[in-house]
Amino acid sequence: MNQFKELQVKEFQYNPFDLIGNEWMFISAVKEGKVNTLTASWGGFGVMWNRNVVFVFIRQSRFTKEFVDAADSFSLTFFDTEKYREIMTQLGTESGRKESKMQKAGITVEQVDGVPYFKEAKLVVICRKMSRHHLSSEGFIDETVEPQWYADKDYHEMYIGEVVKIFEKENE
Ligand SMILES: Cc1cc2nc3c(=O)[nH]c(=O)nc-3n(C[C@H](O)[C@H](O)[C@H](O)COP(=O)(O)O)c2cc1C
Repeated sequence: MNQFKELQVKEFQYNPFDLIGNEWMFISAVKEGKVNTLTASWGGFGVMWNRNVVFVFIRQSRFTKEFVDAADSFSLTFFDTEKYREIMTQLGTESGRKESKMQKAGITVEQVDGVPYFKEAKLVVICRKMSRHHLSSEGFIDETVEPQWYADKDYHEMYIGEVVKIFEKENE
């Protein structure tokens, strides 16, 4: 990770609403030596069980879910969206079930402590899986949520991951 410097949580200056909601992220994990990734724009940074954590939401149908389920850790990677929006859209519409999306998109998979990330990222958050929770009908209080987002019953699972390391690209 020679282009990156490690960032402490107290140095983390990003606006999470903008970073996740507008810039989007990749969620990546490794399974049996292979890596898969999806684009995500829902999730959060926070604190749980006295740990700094991320919350991410992955629908049951996603191929990447199999990877996150198989691995102890996963990464969130963030990009300069002016340059990478098209690739992020591509990886968020195609499934890795058919072919290696990352190879096709021309982004470089590397690993740190056995967790995959992308060399082209501007920010990398390495997360240790702590828990997984199934979202289901019983939990929804706002009656518009289920018909709007789960008409096909493809519910999300929420993963809580402890933030283990954060890396930021040094000025290029
Ligand atoms: C902007 C954007 C945000 C997305 N956010 C999520 C998300 O938070 N959770 C999710 O499960 N899928 C999300 N998706 C959809 C997945 O990225 C998409 O279905 C992807 O093709 C899954 O790939 P896979 O089957 O290789 O895992 C999003 C897609 C886009 C374009």
